[in-house]
Amino acid sequence: MMRKSVLVTTVVAALAVGLGGTLAQDATVPTPDMVALTPTGDALTARRELMDAIGTNNDVLHEMLDGYLEWDGVEFKARLEAMGAMMTAFPNLYRAKPNPWTPEAEAADPAGASLALPTVWEDWETFNAMAKQASETMFKASLEKRANALPIVEDLEAQCESCHAQFRTPLELNPLEQYVGPLGTPAKP
Ligand code: HEC
Repeated sequence: MMRKSVLVTTVVAALAVGLGGTLAQDATVPTPDMVALTPTGDALTARRELMDAIGTNNDVLHEMLDGYLEWDGVEFKARLEAMGAMMTAFPNLYRAKPNPWTPEAEAADPAGASLALPTVWEDWETFNAMAKQASETMFKASLEKRANALPIVEDLEAQCESCHAQFRTPLELNPLEQYVGPLGTPAKP
């Protein structure tokens, strides 16, 4: 009896050590340096504001490329660089505890509900990789002159749409086009 219980204790202890070892290597188990000091609601607002600003900046780039706003190489570069930085920050504003979009959350508090779909948490690796890729594309385009930047900005547009199709609830946007774009007078036809 005695020997058996010692054996059981040893096996349990060995399992615990083994399990501890596995957990320590698992990136999904947060270590203290991965735990945020801000509440999830603040992170949610920040990521929505970031994405909204990325969207407005992106609209301005397209207005310039389409000739509705005057071309300004310095502004074009600065906006892309800012977008790249915002895109780098964006995935860092998600918490391990899911708070995906639901019709109820939207109805209760439209500005305080996340637009993110559950897929963000289900396929975090892909989501994070797509965010990194988009920020790299933004920085890459920021280093180019107008002619070379154009195809990169178009490629970026496809990256926005592809990520939204997988990870964001469909959204009726209020495009800047409403204020300038085709409704405005082209600065340089
Ligand atoms: C890696 C995925 C990803 C990429 C790339 C991406 N987005 Fe988003 N976007 C999201 C997600 C997810 C949300 C919802 C965020 C939330 O509410 O948590 C969102 C939200 C938005 C919103 C709504 C903001 C709001 O809350 O009112 C706009 C506008 C937007 N994105 C524009 C863009 C544009 C423009 C690009 C490309 C230049 C882009 N996004 C690239 C994932 C992405």
